[in-house]
Amino acid sequence: MNPVENMRWWQKAIVYQIYPRSLQDSNGDGIGDLPGILQRLDYLKGIHVDALWLSPINPSPMHDFGYDVADYTGVDPIFGSLDDFMRLLNEAHARDLKVILDLVPNHTSDEHPWFMESRASRTNPKRDWYIWSDPTPSDGPNGGLPNNWLSFFGGPAWTLDPATGQYYLHQFDTHQPELNYRNPEVLEAMLADMRVWLERGIDGFRVDVIWLMIKDAALRDEPPLAGWGGGAPHRGLDHIYTGNQPEVHAIIRAMRALLDEFSAGGQERVLMGETYLPNAVLAEYYGSDAAATGVGDECHLPFNFQLIGAPWNAQGVRKMVDDYEASLPAWGWPNWVLGNHDRIRLATRVGPDQARVATMLLLTLRGTPTCYYGDEIGMHNVEIPAELVRDPQAVNLPDFAAELGRDPVRTPMQWDDSPNAGFCASDVIPWLPLADDYAQNNVLVQESDPQSPLWFYRVLADLRSKSPALLAGAYSAVDAGADNVFAYLRAGDEQRFLVVLNFSAEAQVVNLSAVAAAASVLVDTALAKQGDLHFLRNLRLGPNEGLVLSIDAAFG
Ligand code: GLC
Repeated sequence: MNPVENMRWWQKAIVYQIYPRSLQDSNGDGIGDLPGILQRLDYLKGIHVDALWLSPINPSPMHDFGYDVADYTGVDPIFGSLDDFMRLLNEAHARDLKVILDLVPNHTSDEHPWFMESRASRTNPKRDWYIWSDPTPSDGPNGGLPNNWLSFFGGPAWTLDPATGQYYLHQFDTHQPELNYRNPEVLEAMLADMRVWLERGIDGFRVDVIWLMIKDAALRDEPPLAGWGGGAPHRGLDHIYTGNQPEVHAIIRAMRALLDEFSAGGQERVLMGETYLPNAVLAEYYGSDAAATGVGDECHLPFNFQLIGAPWNAQGVRKMVDDYEASLPAWGWPNWVLGNHDRIRLATRVGPDQARVATMLLLTLRGTPTCYYGDEIGMHNVEIPAELVRDPQAVNLPDFAAELGRDPVRTPMQWDDSPNAGFCASDVIPWLPLADDYAQNNVLVQESDPQSPLWFYRVLADLRSKSPALLAGAYSAVDAGADNVFAYLRAGDEQRFLVVLNFSAEAQVVNLSAVAAAASVLVDTALAKQGDLHFLRNLRLGPNEGLVLSIDAAFG
């Protein structure tokens, strides 16, 4: 048990991911920006989120919408100026909101000066800052390419630079050449750029594809993945040489040490890592806790993405939560994610009714939750007509048809029922089309409907922020005697909460008398129930219903 007073801010926080292009346009170009985010800070504070993670805002040719960085210390004019950023940071801090920036260290844009130098000649001092390799025989097994590595975005992971006759590595777009962290100068340069933001006062970084940062030194071919069922060829290789190399941990430790240097000044900075990895491997990204600080020496929060991909059934999710909890280092702090800018929208994946159950799960499990903008109002995937598709990637992610990319989950935030939903002025064309139901489904409408998804989210987030049992209490699953129901206890020193979630669209009757005879309702998914439930041995849950119950000591 970790008493709330001893918890770090990032252990208590709800993290809210903002896709800056899509929250709020302030200057009439149809693209969201930093002054736009500033306008919405009070809304964000009002729904009880604590930390804002901004997808990249650095100067970028936008081949991958900012994940191709041309200058790590600047702000792209599309989003505003550095002054705009500083104003946002200060105003956020004035509201006790943290600001976490995306850091994309694995690759730069091909327009970054480092790459322009690197590609200038084979003898350029920065040649070795990227991963260059000679062609192989064109009649060999890899048809001239250095090896068989593939890009997540389709095709080979190598592109030939005709001027110098070598290939460069890119596991994403051809415009995203990968840095060579085997050259210590590269890490030094990246740390120097990180330092600039830390000096400006940001609260941490979310590090893009952190597990990919270093590759096999010998560039060995990757073996085929046993049992590959077809689909995107990238998924047919076992990525033992492009991901999770043992040397990655030293790089993460160096980044973390830099953050700790700044945390020592009193403002604790957090390191979140993008880690699509199985539990046992994920646990290693916490590093070790030799100094017994309880917070390790690598990522504070290596993202746990299991809920994003989990088949949506009660027993499967229960097992997943139990396995994850069991896999953590004793001191490792858990975290949970239900959606992001790369994956199908929650409401589309599980449906609007189960989205409430999922939100209840996210906000009542032990560990830091990360929420994706718009999920709090139940935004769903928006079908993008072919001529309006903007994501240039043929994405090999399971949720998307390759030709449609990830645009469906990046559409403008729906604020009200005015033309363009309050995202941008009515005479402006937003960078992606709005959902066709935005007039009914938006913040303004939901703010005046006490049963709306937004109210539900806000009530739950508020409860979480005030409840030691939810912030710090131990987690343990409870047998409810119904396959479609997942129940668990969150037990603090003085509070015990019982969460009961019906993962099905049919009513369920459960027996929770082993936990307590009776309980009182704190929140239910329909925001309709109140008062005491006297017979937990015979508790009826409606279709898609979830309950957060308080087990009064007197009842227990
Ligand atoms: C991460 C980002 C994704 C991006 C990729 C390459 O997975 O989340 O949006 O395309 O890295 O930077």
